[in-house]
Amino acid sequence: MLRAMRILTGLQPSGKLHVGNYFGAIEPAVRLQEQGEAFYFIADYHAMTSSQDPAALRENVRDLAVDFLACGLDPERAVFFRQSAVPEVNELAWILSTVCPMSLLAKCHSYKDKTSQGIAPHHALFAYPVLMAADILLYDSNQVPVGKDQKQHLEVTRDLAVKLNETFGEGTVVLPEPIIREDTAVIVGLDGRKMSKSYANTLPIFGEEKPLKKLLMKIPTDSTPVEAPKPTGDSTILALYKLFASGADYQTMVADHELGGVGYGDFKKRLADAYWDFFASMRERRLEVLANPGYVERVLAEGAERARGEAAKVLDRVRHAVGLR
Ligand code: ADP
Ligand code: TRP
Repeated sequence: MLRAMRILTGLQPSGKLHVGNYFGAIEPAVRLQEQGEAFYFIADYHAMTSSQDPAALRENVRDLAVDFLACGLDPERAVFFRQSAVPEVNELAWILSTVCPMSLLAKCHSYKDKTSQGIAPHHALFAYPVLMAADILLYDSNQVPVGKDQKQHLEVTRDLAVKLNETFGEGTVVLPEPIIREDTAVIVGLDGRKMSKSYANTLPIFGEEKPLKKLLMKIPTDSTPVEAPKPTGDSTILALYKLFASGADYQTMVADHELGGVGYGDFKKRLADAYWDFFASMRERRLEVLANPGYVERVLAEGAERARGEAAKVLDRVRHAVGLR
């Protein structure tokens, strides 16, 4: 029987979701769940490569689960689970590592970047792409939507899949296709650079109203007087407003920049209102999720069961192919 297109992606639990994560990863994933059989997981094993803090890991996993559900992940459609709830992925990672040349991993940017930042180069950081390949291949994934930063990891995954099939027989694993979000705009942070945790310039998607407004009010602006026209070229306020406002409201704000007579404080207030409205329904959904004790655990447990069922079939096929059975 022909099965639906399987779309898989993983997100690392690494702190509060910000607006860049929302438009760059969450929203595209929520849209894609309509187009196939989605497998979305919280990459908790991967998170351990950059932080070893058990309490933070637990909290981040839970936060990501709650927030992803609040943003529209539909557990009726998507299989939603924690990576570590399917420990079989480690066995596949081991099998893949037996066909993985050291040189393939040594040239990976993420490893080079992290070690150049002074992070001690432990084995898991080096082997990170092998585990990621196992994540993908364990579910016979067809499509893997990721940001540009993950492109090389997808190339490694495909290399390993081809190698495994050459070594142990065609059809041992399914060759996945990357869907690289090349066209996703880079969302700017409060200081005008790319929004990123590492720049401490993020705008959380779920925060308290007052501190959020304060955050937005601190967006740096030039000293153009209220009456004068204001530059629209690389305005952080406009770039953010465009994400949240209707086309017409955005055009009005552009016109108000060009005409003059409106101050930056006013523009920031409009930005804060548009932001607040944009996430209103998700904020409400989040409260519902939080008010329902056990809901998140139940969703993740059901997701894990479905994921394990799929993983068992694939792993059985691989074990036979390589001679472990
Ligand atoms: P951070 O840069 O804050 O550490 P992550 O690397 O954890 O963010 O982001 C996870 C995913 O969210 C990325 O793969 C990318 O798709 C998306 N993302 C993060 N920041 C942005 C941004 N500023 N613009 C667009 N997408 C982003
Ligand atoms: N490495 C990815 C990231 O940091 C997360 C991830 C882990 C992933 N396993 C995956 C993404 C498998 C896609 C498929 O964003």
